[in-house]
Amino acid sequence: MERFAANSPLPWLKPGVFAGSLIPLAVTGWRGFHDQLGADAVAAALNQLGYLAFLFLTATLLCTPVRIASGWSWPVRLRRMLGLFAFFYASLHFLMYFTVDQSLNLRDIYNDIMKRKFILAGFLTLLILIPLAATSTNRMIRRLGFLRWKLLHRLSYLAGILASLHFIWRVKKDLTEVLIFCAILTFGFLIRIFKTWHQKYLPSRP
Ligand code: HEM
Repeated sequence: MERFAANSPLPWLKPGVFAGSLIPLAVTGWRGFHDQLGADAVAAALNQLGYLAFLFLTATLLCTPVRIASGWSWPVRLRRMLGLFAFFYASLHFLMYFTVDQSLNLRDIYNDIMKRKFILAGFLTLLILIPLAATSTNRMIRRLGFLRWKLLHRLSYLAGILASLHFIWRVKKDLTEVLIFCAILTFGFLIRIFKTWHQKYLPSRP
């Protein structure tokens, strides 16, 4: 992860967001340790970690639209860190499913992925997040070349769509919350499309 630069504007921003991003994990761990996660603690922790992964992925995808709409540069400085936290929470979510929920039974997991479309969508999201996290360093950007790196990282939109489907198909009753997330993500995508269209067809004059 990029080192925290003390001489950049808002020097507290990255360390502050980094520490804040770990708080939900500490709270879930503390509540689990003290038997405060309810009757089905495993399901509660699994859902909590999945929710956090989705939240961080949404925040990552919103950094650029917020910069475009507001002109602020700070959201983009947080993008890589937020994306890595999305991957971190998604990996914990999957690890919990793999170890505690499915007891490391690969055959059961395979059957689950094949049978339940919501598990398949989550699995594909995680598969996409792996190369994105692995190529998030400055060294990898240099090795791949910026254009190829940028093309690869367009997969983050697909990850956003698949994660939304995973969430929608998992929620059986009240879809209000997940639909609010989807509306925010769609609005973010539209801002990006509008900017590309604007640059292409209405280039600014000298
Ligand atoms: C192999 C990958 C994955 C598997 C096997 C998986 C599996 C699961 C399972 C079993 C649940 C709980 C379902 C229930 O209690 O009925 C769940 C919930 C959830 N997962 Fe995943 N998941 C995966 C990846 C992801 C990823 C990558 C994200 C987001 C980036 C994600 C976000 C969520 C969300 C938002 C929920 C619902 C949380 C809530 O209701 O509060 N999952 N997932």
